Amino acid sequence: MVLVSGTGSNLQAVIDAVQAGELPNVDIAAVGADKHDTYGVQRSAEAGIETFVVNFKDYEDRKDWNHALTEKCLSYAPDYVVSSGFMRIVGEEFINAFDGTYINTHPALLPSFPGAHGVRDALAYGVKVTGCTVHIADAGVDTGPILRQEAVAIDDADTEDTLHERIKVVERRLLIATLADLAKSK
Ligand code: GRF
Repeated sequence: MVLVSGTGSNLQAVIDAVQAGELPNVDIAAVGADKHDTYGVQRSAEAGIETFVVNFKDYEDRKDWNHALTEKCLSYAPDYVVSSGFMRIVGEEFINAFDGTYINTHPALLPSFPGAHGVRDALAYGVKVTGCTVHIADAGVDTGPILRQEAVAIDDADTEDTLHERIKVVERRLLIATLADLAKSK
């Protein structure tokens, strides 16, 4: 299953790969979001995938939200939970429930530039090469064992948007390759 917060263009690439038969052992059990009206949920529903929202703002505190999200995700008994642009930090209960099976993608070469602004921070630092990382998420912010990583060169003319778009092209390919690997070992 997949968690999203935004447009879900990486998720769409996975949906397309599944529909094209490129990921024969992958079935997206559900797509969930932490807020209403995300394009990620909309496009999943259009693709016939079950969707849900565990709206962060509906809960008293982060712990309650985290509990509700954990329970909801567990109800699908997924082999893996993929954070594809899911912009909330999940708590201990979630991490323990999906220990070793929570997969995250990040638009930078971890451990460099973790956090919500990995692309912006790499540009601001002035590095000439950045990239993307697919990793098993643990309780930290963008930490945990790295599964795949690939570099993307930064051009002088890059803005955050142009660079992020180029990174996402690579990110989609890495995510699909990672899912193919994980599905083989299940
Ligand atoms: C990806 O670059 C992801 O790593 C980051 O946000 C982006 C998600 O984009 N956290 P999208 O929602 O898949 O278009």
